[in-house]
Amino acid sequence: MKPDTILVLDFGGQYAHLIARRIRENGVYSEVVSSNMSSNEISKLSEKFNIRGLILSGGPSSVYDSDSPKMSQSILNAGLPLLGLCYGHQLLSHVFRGNVKKATRKEFGHTIVQITKPVSILNKLNRTEKVWMSHGDTVYSLPSEFETLATTENCPVAAFRHKVKPIFGIQWHPEVVHTASGHVILKNFIFDICECESNWQPANFAKDSISEIKRIVGNEKAIIALSGGIDSSTAALLASKALGKNLIAVFVDHGFMREGEAEEIRNVFKSSGLSLTIVDAKKQFMNKLKGVKDPEEKRRIIGNEFIKVFEKIAEKIKANYLLQGTIYPDRIESGSTRHSDKIKTHHNVGGIPDKIKFRKIVEPLRDLYKDEVRNIAEELGMPKYIVRRQPFPGPALAVRIIGEVTEKKIEIVKKADRIVAQEIEKSGLSENLWQYFAILTDTKTTGVKGDARAYGYTVAIRAVESKEAMTANFAKLPYEVLETISTRITNEIPEVSRVVYDITHKPPSTIEWE
Ligand code: XMP
Repeated sequence: MKPDTILVLDFGGQYAHLIARRIRENGVYSEVVSSNMSSNEISKLSEKFNIRGLILSGGPSSVYDSDSPKMSQSILNAGLPLLGLCYGHQLLSHVFRGNVKKATRKEFGHTIVQITKPVSILNKLNRTEKVWMSHGDTVYSLPSEFETLATTENCPVAAFRHKVKPIFGIQWHPEVVHTASGHVILKNFIFDICECESNWQPANFAKDSISEIKRIVGNEKAIIALSGGIDSSTAALLASKALGKNLIAVFVDHGFMREGEAEEIRNVFKSSGLSLTIVDAKKQFMNKLKGVKDPEEKRRIIGNEFIKVFEKIAEKIKANYLLQGTIYPDRIESGSTRHSDKIKTHHNVGGIPDKIKFRKIVEPLRDLYKDEVRNIAEELGMPKYIVRRQPFPGPALAVRIIGEVTEKKIEIVKKADRIVAQEIEKSGLSENLWQYFAILTDTKTTGVKGDARAYGYTVAIRAVESKEAMTANFAKLPYEVLETISTRITNEIPEVSRVVYDITHKPPSTIEWE
């Protein structure tokens, strides 16, 4: 039986995949497709899926940009229910000759909307709702065949519907957890408007992925880039089930890992049956980063050096395939999906040079979010402390040192990071935190230690709560914990004279500082 399906047209929004995922959580299949897909292409997909509706994602463009992504006219005429979100909302308004203009005030983050008509797509919502917005353009008015369903202080048409056809637009993001009733809106669309049935079961991901790796690599050799984090560890486990002895895991010690990390990785994987090679590449990475201050340049260099190390080993053992634990947010933030803006170059995506010696890079987790990876890891019986390990970026402490990376700065940030981890774990707060760490800023400030002037570094502390890292809230840590952290850092690290706490959400900030 073909599953009832909602397609998400990807206009480059950071949350396009999240929309598909939220729909799948309701037992209805969803896939992200190109924004310029034609109705013919949709008909082709209909051989496999029972397509019930389309969602137009958000995106970084303005409908007035000359190169802004458009949608095919044939889709508009196809008669399928349409829901535009954020850019999708603006695009539908523009196509139907509404008045879309630059907002007098851009809205980012939590916003209160007034639901003027709690019907159809907004059925069961309260008159006032807390939602998540992130937009520069605004819809000011629509032609008479449309009606406004919601407004905000700065946004006269925050939600609309066509009076006759199943066409809807919403300026905010129902797919992110910060929109309290987001799941209600998506359910209204999926079940009431598109009349879908919950007839899709999440496939046995592990089983499918093992056969996929077997199919691609066959009987040849492959190496997997292992960092010890949950993503690469899960990918390694899947790949070792698929390839057995033909898989070699490679851990690159670039010198920017946290204290004791290389040893820890060795211990964790010692008994796993995986053959692990640890490469000491500290000198190679430090030499390349000498004098480099720009964060994107740092990320690019690190990505390049990673590949060089992997290529060298692959040549030695005659491996043609490189497996990586890349997950969906790494790809979207690196701007590797069509129309999406580059937020930063994740080392394992945008940091990879154009020409590589591998026949193929295989990324079994490329469409998943970290919490989905954690579920799979648990299913595969991975130890809890790896499953729950806080995420750590591939470029590691090099992107938590603002400006040039030096041996001295690595030493400082390592010590500060250890103190943050110790105190937060001691206080029992770590369970509810996505990440907690220290950043060494490049700002020096005046202090006074033991009656003498101290002119030292400023360390910043970041602790966030998140579900899948696409959005995050800074954690409201108790002052006592912050005080202990600050006192320990300034006492135990002589080079630091000030500690600050980062109180920004994502967006507008990212979780890491670079
Ligand atoms: P940001 O800083 O973009 O991070 O909000 C989102 C999540 O991804 C992690 N991160 C990375 N992971 N390679 C990775 O494997 C990278 O280059 C990278 N940069 C950020 C970050 O720690 C957070 O959990």
